[in-house]
Amino acid sequence: MFAKMLLRVVLLGICLGFCSRVEGIDLWPMPMSVSYGKHSLYLSKDFGLVTEGSKYPDGSGTLKDAFLRVKDVIPNGHVLDGSLPSSGVVAGLHVVVLSPNDTLNYGIDESYKLLVPATGSPIYAYIEAQTVYGALHAMQTFSQLCSVNLDTRTIKLSLAPWSITDQPRFSYRGLLIDTSRHFLPLPIIKSVIDSMTYSKLNVLHWHIVDTQSFPMEIYSYPKLWHGSYTSTERYTMADALEIVKYAQRRGVNVLAEIDVPGHALSWGKGYPSLWPSANCQEPLDVSNEFTFKVIDGILSDFSKIFEFRFVHLGGDEVDTSCWTTTPHIQDWLKKNKMNESGAYEYFVLRAQKIAISHGYEVINWEETFNNFGKKLSPSTIVHNWLGGGVAEKVTAAGLRCIVSNQDKWYLDHLDATWQGFYMNEPLVNITKTEQQKLVIGGEVCMWGEHIDASDIHQTIWPRAAAAAERLWTPLEKLAKDPKLVTSRLARFRCLLNQRGVAAAPLAGLGREVPIGPGSCISQ
Ligand SMILES: *[C@@H]1O[C@H](CO)[C@@H](O)[C@H](O)[C@H]1NC(C)=O
Ligand SMILES: *[C@@H]1O[C@H](CO)[C@@H](O)[C@H](O)[C@H]1NC(C)=O
Ligand SMILES: *[C@@H]1O[C@H](CO)[C@@H](O)[C@H](O)[C@H]1NC(C)=O
Repeated sequence: MFAKMLLRVVLLGICLGFCSRVEGIDLWPMPMSVSYGKHSLYLSKDFGLVTEGSKYPDGSGTLKDAFLRVKDVIPNGHVLDGSLPSSGVVAGLHVVVLSPNDTLNYGIDESYKLLVPATGSPIYAYIEAQTVYGALHAMQTFSQLCSVNLDTRTIKLSLAPWSITDQPRFSYRGLLIDTSRHFLPLPIIKSVIDSMTYSKLNVLHWHIVDTQSFPMEIYSYPKLWHGSYTSTERYTMADALEIVKYAQRRGVNVLAEIDVPGHALSWGKGYPSLWPSANCQEPLDVSNEFTFKVIDGILSDFSKIFEFRFVHLGGDEVDTSCWTTTPHIQDWLKKNKMNESGAYEYFVLRAQKIAISHGYEVINWEETFNNFGKKLSPSTIVHNWLGGGVAEKVTAAGLRCIVSNQDKWYLDHLDATWQGFYMNEPLVNITKTEQQKLVIGGEVCMWGEHIDASDIHQTIWPRAAAAAERLWTPLEKLAKDPKLVTSRLARFRCLLNQRGVAAAPLAGLGREVPIGPGSCISQ
């Protein structure tokens, strides 16, 4: 008890040192290039969207809806009834999108320019972007230039004129959610997607099923969701489509995962022949053609809903002992002159071929690379998790890589600090340009063993935001010491709270309670 109190006093002391307001840029993640002035402006009461000159017809309403959402979050829920000054009022946002194409996928142009002039009559903030999704990022940045002023009961935009040029450093900036260990209700998934947009993350990795439960409806094999915990803790395929569309309209791709052949016990609740035997239930039966028919059915159904270029086939933590101890699989191995590691390889490569036949490129967890190396499809993206130094080996072999080393970027590791999240550099020790290009980005992982609707947001935030800046901001603009961004991240955490996201305090480890009475930014 005493030690804990002492820790709090020390943490409070540290915070008082650099949690004070630093006048200047309060943006998260830090844009590529920013310049600003010293004029204060105010947002008009009928702050509006203008799209004159834009080549994007916005038939889907993606741009208009994003504008309304941003306009809605800026006041932080306050009733702002103050009167505006006679000059310095920003009448609206003029958005010019140069491409009519709003197909969201991996590698689209997310860059933007944002200009806020200090004078004009009327004053319009100006956004220019190649795609509507770049414009969405620009609006998020714009929202962070604005703040509620309760002395005047208006929305103030400080430090104009602004000139911001921005684009992401990595095109894959992910967050994993796990709906097998605990079911996550649809409004929670949607709120996670909304929160991702605030720090410009762009891939929701949906680890849908695992050993413990199979919550998803699959048209081709309707008994699979007999593996759900209860009949209500399920997603229909229409629900999945709704999530994909919801995310797309916000510039977020959804990466679906089925983790095979391990992590798949729940599949056999509906189809017991997928188990090696009734009392040895994992991994999926490699000797049974039905196993591959089911995988084909799932991926065929997925291809109609999950439009992202990639699908994730897992492949990690495969304990093959049920294969070597089950008589009919022993016979099959003998007949095919295969040992258990050969069977694991056969399974992973065959599942890859099925996914490719449905138009996907495959992401697999790193064990597949560690075991089979270049035998994997050359289009494989290897998803690191076990530790550091993997991207270096994967890219040296000419394959692409996503970095998620668990010691730094696993959100369920409550002892992984935001400072560690911030400093985890995906390109560490990779010096050759052609190898660097193969690291497509990184992902923070919110595994669900101890996470459900009650605690997901405070376990994700603010640590995921620390990684989001690492993945967005150019290397030379990232702080060499996380102390230098404490104050700015604390303010971003408070911004999340103001927007209704239950982001945890920065002091201490992941998901700590506030250190004591005090302002949000000193916690
Ligand atoms: C639209 O963009 C997507 C994603 O980049 C691309 O695959 C598609 O070919 C584009 N469509 C047109 C008509 O240019
Ligand atoms: C499996 O067989 C391969 C050759 O087919 C061999 O290299 C490997 O060592 C064997 N593995 C085990 C665990 O016996
Ligand atoms: C990078 O290289 C240094 C020096 O060889 C080494 O100490 C460190 O462990 C490496 N980091 C990773 C993540 O591989």
